[in-house]
Amino acid sequence: MNTLLLNDNQNDIEKAGKILSGGGLVAIPTETVYGLAANALDGRAVASIFRAKGRPMDNPLIVHIADIEDISRFSLVSRFPEKAKLLAEKFWSGPLTMIMPKGESIPDEVSAGLDTVAIRFPSHTLAQKLIKAAGVPLAAPSANISGSPSPTTAEHVMNDMNGRIDAVVDGGECSVGLESTVITLAVDPPRLLRPGKITVEQIESVIGKIEVDDAVLHQLKNGEKAASPGMKYKHYAPKASVVLLKGSTAAYIDFVNNHIESGTAALCYDDDIEKLKLKSFSLGKSGDYSSQAHRLFSSLRAIDRDESVKLVYARCPNPEGVGMAVYNRLVRAAGFEVIDLENL
Ligand code: TXA
Ligand code: MG
Repeated sequence: MNTLLLNDNQNDIEKAGKILSGGGLVAIPTETVYGLAANALDGRAVASIFRAKGRPMDNPLIVHIADIEDISRFSLVSRFPEKAKLLAEKFWSGPLTMIMPKGESIPDEVSAGLDTVAIRFPSHTLAQKLIKAAGVPLAAPSANISGSPSPTTAEHVMNDMNGRIDAVVDGGECSVGLESTVITLAVDPPRLLRPGKITVEQIESVIGKIEVDDAVLHQLKNGEKAASPGMKYKHYAPKASVVLLKGSTAAYIDFVNNHIESGTAALCYDDDIEKLKLKSFSLGKSGDYSSQAHRLFSSLRAIDRDESVKLVYARCPNPEGVGMAVYNRLVRAAGFEVIDLENL
């Protein structure tokens, strides 16, 4: 299959819309990461997403809308909880995904057999135009091969998906760089399943106390069931081994400079780079979690392209605010291997 590379002009948007309404697969930009989209109401089109990504069929997809009214227009949910309405008013359009009891139009391929569905209203204007051009809500997981980091540029998507999908729409670099915050409102109190740009504190300021699922910050024990199926899979793992080093800047610099061997590299804050005596990749600005979110996946991909890198010593962000999202992705890339430098 020849994968078309499309742009943000009207002609290309209409072309992408036609491919999508005809049951095809198009990668689209969003403010978080690129998504691999198909008509969410067409089970066959949705099934082909799983084949293109090599994604296990028991991992459900997010349905993307371009207007809150789409939820009732297409019967996407059977109940729109009051707290979900409050969150929608405050954070939509934007990087927040809400799980609700599913409506009658949702095919089993989307919900992977669960009785809930995840809904997201992206703020990216091109994403909204593409959903409108398709004329239907779009089911879209991140547009990477299953297990590799989510793509934040059209080039990343092409590297993974060229020849496997009908088209990629280039909307430039994603501003957030990490996937949306996922919260389920199918339970009370609501429960955070995946941290993102919209933080626990921001959500609690609107609907009061929520729970944070254990799998957000900790490794699931053998046999434990994940509330969100995506969390049980190995994620974002580069080919090199990654180890997180927790501690002060001085302790990090000292440890890394004393453990340099061939194939060792650092994934560190920009200010650290000049103090380190080995190959370094940027994890954004120290203390600025948004810049770290923006850099993380791009740097993990750069590490993967560099065959010489075998072991990466990464800074360990504090799991607070947007840092919770950065930590959640990075600790999975590290297979939960964390060294506490203050307690060696
Ligand atoms: O920012 C994002 O959310 C991006 C862009 C493209 O919108 N999408 C994305 O999709 O990250 P994906 O499929 O890579 O991650 C969706 C996560 C998975 O962990 C999945 O298990 C979970 O959401 N999920 C989806 N539907 C669910 C449901 N009904 N119940 C529990 N978890 C669900
Ligand atoms: Mg994904």
